[in-house]
Amino acid sequence: MITFVTTNPGKFREVSAKLAPLGIRLARRDRAYPELQADRLEDVVRFAAGLVAKEVRGEFLIDDSGLFVEALGGFPGVYSSYVYRTLGPAGLVRLLQGRRERAARFETVFLLGNRGRPPRVFRGECEGTIARIPRGHGGFGFDPIFVPTGARRTFGEMSLREKNAISHRARAAEALAHHLRRRRG
Ligand code: IMP
Repeated sequence: MITFVTTNPGKFREVSAKLAPLGIRLARRDRAYPELQADRLEDVVRFAAGLVAKEVRGEFLIDDSGLFVEALGGFPGVYSSYVYRTLGPAGLVRLLQGRRERAARFETVFLLGNRGRPPRVFRGECEGTIARIPRGHGGFGFDPIFVPTGARRTFGEMSLREKNAISHRARAAEALAHHLRRRRG
């Protein structure tokens, strides 16, 4: 059993659905931790892990993710949760009004920790574009404005299963599962 420390039920649903068929079970710990102001998602999770390790017994998982918009120099990136709370998805779309360049990518960094042991970090990415208006009510966060490459619909218009087949978080979960399988031997 791994404790997934997250306040976000959407993240928990996605990762549980991905790992359960592989026999990896997660418990959710609904706890917020301070997010270090840093340039890289990896620095954010490593800082948080130091705090979480003092509280959680056994193995735990932390997820920090961000949306990186090319025409904005990678913004909001590590500031994604702040921009979600202030501008929201529609506000981010407005920043791109009139722009033809709409490329963006989601990134997820997972940290698997356990007090006293060196942490492991896993990554996942998903390339796509920013939609012209928010579409769909599925998923969470910026899902209604993100169209993954090769699709016409936004993540917000997809089922959990469809998002989980291609998303940044699903990729990170696959890397985590691969590590756990190898460790079990
Ligand atoms: P966090 O700091 O990892 O919780 O996420 C930063 C911001 O990005 C939050 O506002 C999330 O709602 C948003 N976000 C994280 N992952 C996703 C995703 O898979 N889809 C859409 N938005 C996401």
